[in-house]
Amino acid sequence: MSSPTIRAPRGTYDVLPDLAVLRAEVEQTAAELLEAAGYGRIETPAFESTELFSRGVGQSTDIVQKEMYTFEDSGHRSLTLRPEGTAPVCRAYVEHGMHKLPAPVKLYYFSNFFRSEKPQEGRYRQFWQVGAEVLGSHDPATDAESIVLAHTLLDRLGARGLRLRLASLGSPATRSAYTADLKTHLRDKSDELSPQVRARIDLNPLRAFDSDDPGTRRVMAGAPRLLDRLSPEDAEHFDEVKALLAAAGVPYEIDSTLVRGLDYYTRTLFEFSSDALGAQSGVGGGGRYDGLVAQLGGPPTPGIGWAAGVERILLSAGRQPSPPVGVDLFVAYETDRRQAFQTMLDARHHGLRAQMELTGRSLKGQLKHADRLGARFVAVVDDDGLQLRDPRSGTQEPVDSAQLIALLQAEVPS
Ligand code: HAM
Repeated sequence: MSSPTIRAPRGTYDVLPDLAVLRAEVEQTAAELLEAAGYGRIETPAFESTELFSRGVGQSTDIVQKEMYTFEDSGHRSLTLRPEGTAPVCRAYVEHGMHKLPAPVKLYYFSNFFRSEKPQEGRYRQFWQVGAEVLGSHDPATDAESIVLAHTLLDRLGARGLRLRLASLGSPATRSAYTADLKTHLRDKSDELSPQVRARIDLNPLRAFDSDDPGTRRVMAGAPRLLDRLSPEDAEHFDEVKALLAAAGVPYEIDSTLVRGLDYYTRTLFEFSSDALGAQSGVGGGGRYDGLVAQLGGPPTPGIGWAAGVERILLSAGRQPSPPVGVDLFVAYETDRRQAFQTMLDARHHGLRAQMELTGRSLKGQLKHADRLGARFVAVVDDDGLQLRDPRSGTQEPVDSAQLIALLQAEVPS
């Protein structure tokens, strides 16, 4: 009896070669764009102390409440597979004393993240983000620069139907005064709210703006808005971000109901969505987090950043798998495997893309395989030695190895 097959865990997927080519393009485009803007790459560990996320991302968030993969190691330490990248980057910033570097410090990543969400198209339990963080600047030009870079990246990668929503959360003091008023509004109308929203009035009242429930939506239409309560300094900061974006020609909509599922945000908040995506329409998002580094035990340091989902970028761009890398020379053989092997290595040594027969096919089968691979040239090792074969006419003529390489080099564009 054969053993049952083992599949990848639900909500995860394998990156097969065609998809790997597309993902490498995202990574390379991001690297070129962000490095030219002064960002250096950072990679943090796939797991961290659980406390980093409960303190950094926030106890009241869905991520911390129900989406983290948390486990205990053999030393009874609680560890968590990273659900996001901002808290880890801030942890690394503090741990490596990066606050002593000239400000601002600009970092980017291309990493995998883990959230125990219900899987569907565009939503996975292991997914990749390209993200960028800037630490050490309050300047509204930093906010605008971040947003412009995210926009440029999505645009270069061909994301379709993009929409940018923008808001400001003000300072923590403004936000907590506002949250108290919002709770009062929700409590006054609690019988019109959905049970889920009602149960979370104290924990996370802002999430009520995200609800699809008709009763909740009616209540939220009349709810106070944080954007109307900004302090003069926060309003001035936000006005400058908007002016810089307008000058950069990046279209945006102000959305006073924008909520994001992370507690660390202050001031500027933004999200990119795509009409080309279904229910999971968020392609990327971010914002300012001026209190996070201090909350993690570092010196008070402002920060701003964003992350975009690699799978969602590719989905929204509608990218088809690219053709595989070509083959310049296929070495078939009837007699001398060693000569075939050496010919292949010589060709590779001279920069050619060469392969040889590896499964013991008949010569006919080998030629068919070379054709399937799209090999531009085929060499055959038979009783008469090394031959160059014209795949179209089927004629063969003897060559020595040096002639073969010279001929291929002349024919194959470098
Ligand atoms: P986020 O909005 O939670 O923000 O995630 C950013 C992007 O990651 C989303 O817009 C989406 O494209 C993608 N994403 C999130 N969850 C999934 C999933 N389960 N499957 C597939 N893609 C997903 C953050 O993570 C913040 N750290 C962004 C940030 C950086 N804020 C400041 N700096």
